Amino acid sequence: MTEHQERTGAAYDGVVELYASMFADRLETQPFSRNMIGTFAELVRATGNPRAADVGCGPGHLTAVLCELGLDARGFDLSPGMVEHARRAHPALRFDQGRMEALPVGDGALGGVLAHYSMIHTPPGELPALLAEQVRVLAPGGLLLASFFATEGPEPVRFDHKVAPAYSWPVDRFAELLTGAGLVVFARLLHDPASERGFLDAHVLARLP
Ligand SMILES: C[S@@+](CC[C@H](N)C(=O)[O-])C[C@H]1O[C@@H](n2cnc3c(N)ncnc32)[C@H](O)[C@@H]1O
Repeated sequence: MTEHQERTGAAYDGVVELYASMFADRLETQPFSRNMIGTFAELVRATGNPRAADVGCGPGHLTAVLCELGLDARGFDLSPGMVEHARRAHPALRFDQGRMEALPVGDGALGGVLAHYSMIHTPPGELPALLAEQVRVLAPGGLLLASFFATEGPEPVRFDHKVAPAYSWPVDRFAELLTGAGLVVFARLLHDPASERGFLDAHVLARLP
């Protein structure tokens, strides 16, 4: 594990209950995320392979949403505390501690990978390898939905996220990395959450040919 992964995992370990209390029901008030996740689940179901991973699942609420939407979803997270919380909150579902960089999943096993604000802590130089790992676990035709903070400038911007240092991305640059990893980007949604944070929210859907 790299030093920044250790720091990120430890930082999330320290905020499990607070994070869960703030975000576990958040989807109800996040119509853009909710609908993109709904579209993702529908498209994954249509591939005929409902197996999916919620990578960087945090407290597990979106893994549960994916299961409610008909997917056979598992959650993975760097933070043991998050995994413990997810298991307690959703005892019927499967959660494992795991790094997105080295998922304990076979090649081509999954119809879909959801990365909801979980790639935000990955330093830009490490993102190509991280994306290659998501591609490794996807079956042909499989879908990746990546949600992240977007910036309108030309370069990724490091910022002091409340839990651990994070990066916002120009959507085109992020999409280029997905293309470079072998995916076809076919939908992007950008919206302004009008928050003090000042970033846009981005959701990008891509498919493995
Ligand atoms: C901002 S939270 C998002 C949690 C959840 N996906 C959500 O939308 O509420 C980021 C999560 O990603 C996890 N994470 C960050 N880097 C990771 C990595 N390299 N591998 C696995 N999990 C990671 C963190 O531990 C944290 O739980």
